[in-house]
Amino acid sequence: MPSFSVDTQRKPTIIILDFGSQYSELIARRIRETEVFSLVMSHRTSANELQELSPKGIILSGGPNSVYAPGAPLCDPSIWNLGIPILGVCYGMQLMVHQLGGAVDIASGKAEYGKAPLQVDDSTSLLNKVVNGSTMWMSHGDAVKELPEGFVRLAHTANTAEAAIAAEKLRLYGVQFHPEVVHSTHGMTLIKNFVYEICGCRPDWTTTTFIDEAVSQVRAQVGQKRVLLALSGGVDSSTLAFLLHRAIGDQLTCMFIDQGFMRKGEPEFLMQFFDKQFHINVEYINARKRFINKLQGITDPEEKRKVIGAEFIRVFEEESVRLGPFDYLAQGTLYPDVIESAGTNVDPATGERVAVKIKSHHNVGGLPKDLQFKLVEPLRRLFKDEVRKVGRSLGLPEEIVRRHPFPGPGLAIRILGEVTNQKLNCLRDADLIVREEIRQAGFYNDVWQAFAVLLPVCSVGVMGDQRTYDWPIVVRCVSSEDGMTADWSRLPYETLECISNRIVNEVEGVNRVVLDITSKPPGTIEWE
Ligand code: XMP
Repeated sequence: MPSFSVDTQRKPTIIILDFGSQYSELIARRIRETEVFSLVMSHRTSANELQELSPKGIILSGGPNSVYAPGAPLCDPSIWNLGIPILGVCYGMQLMVHQLGGAVDIASGKAEYGKAPLQVDDSTSLLNKVVNGSTMWMSHGDAVKELPEGFVRLAHTANTAEAAIAAEKLRLYGVQFHPEVVHSTHGMTLIKNFVYEICGCRPDWTTTTFIDEAVSQVRAQVGQKRVLLALSGGVDSSTLAFLLHRAIGDQLTCMFIDQGFMRKGEPEFLMQFFDKQFHINVEYINARKRFINKLQGITDPEEKRKVIGAEFIRVFEEESVRLGPFDYLAQGTLYPDVIESAGTNVDPATGERVAVKIKSHHNVGGLPKDLQFKLVEPLRRLFKDEVRKVGRSLGLPEEIVRRHPFPGPGLAIRILGEVTNQKLNCLRDADLIVREEIRQAGFYNDVWQAFAVLLPVCSVGVMGDQRTYDWPIVVRCVSSEDGMTADWSRLPYETLECISNRIVNEVEGVNRVVLDITSKPPGTIEWE
């Protein structure tokens, strides 16, 4: 497990100690939904460190291990005596039981996965208003066999005797199920009971407080120095631009590198919106020719990505020298990136993080030694949904806030085989039609992504009396929570018909439209 450091000025109100669960981040998000600030930290965090941060509550996450397994992650046993309320979830509860002298059955033979009706035995405190018989999500092999002294049972299920437990006097609580997942119907009721009633937290983590704090932190960090931001038009870099502009005004320079692979009208929209409407200083770099020239003859998708990424760094380097000097580089790093990439690069002299890679969606190569910036990363405590809220609150239009994910190398990877200007124009037109029709039919905000792909194979068709020999366009439209898994969207035939008719009629060079009905896995969302 990586160890996580707290690098923020606001101290976390609730700390989640991570024991390796896939849900640790989700717990943090749920807590923040109650407007209480939470951070995920390593299970190795000592009781002293926790005491210094003085959180109002601690949650121990689940984890894949068994508490008796050699090398199973443990916590500092002194945390039980801190007097801070602690809620153990799944593995976290088993660890609490184990370290406090109870027993866990590792071969109960009663593994429980999926939904289970919860039988509430004591509806005071933690389970207040959690409806008897309501569904909770279970995912465990081991189970608590014997409660430590001072603990009582709060609930059970058909297969789990100790589904929820408490030692009120010690302010310790445990649940075998996962209140944080959506399938747990009264999970949020339980979480709110813990956060508000047991820990006594107040809802003070709001978009407004975040913006106010971030603005003053950026001002304090940057002083009178200049900051450079690579704007991509996505919600992260756009929100960042708005936030920084509010904090430091003209000390911010945005650089928008037009590789020539954006969707129809996007570069114009971005410049109009940021530069003209909001007077945010954006330098438009037209690098279209450079990129298309570099891609001549390249058909391998990985090679394509590498070439585009390397060229991006080169243009960025040249332009930042031309426009500079800059002291700081602003990055739209989000909280999941921080959790996942512990061990970041810190300048030993100043203690500030330094960029060894340009994140911006081009994770290739690094910047040369003499072009290293200090980083400004005011979004690094936020989850994606929080960034959207901040963006909205700062005045970003829905068009940007709800923009579908778009790969850094853009349309270049949605053209299979060699990229040419002719194919780019063709794909841009087809892509616009797909998005227009899906928006028109009212599905745009419900789907994760909807786009067109161009295949470099020709097939025979007929238009009027003419025989055609043109490319096909693939329509890809998927639903997904996070892009890790996805299902193809069941669009109405009428919408598909409009898309197909319009593309073959309006887009030169295309005589056929096909629909991708592959889920991920085994397919990926992009084709490449
Ligand atoms: P795949 O194709 O791997 O894509 O199923 C998963 C999600 O990631 C997006 N994607 C990218 N996003 N830079 C990005 O910021 C990239 O280079 C990139 N490549 C893929 C993709 O659109 C999908 O949402």
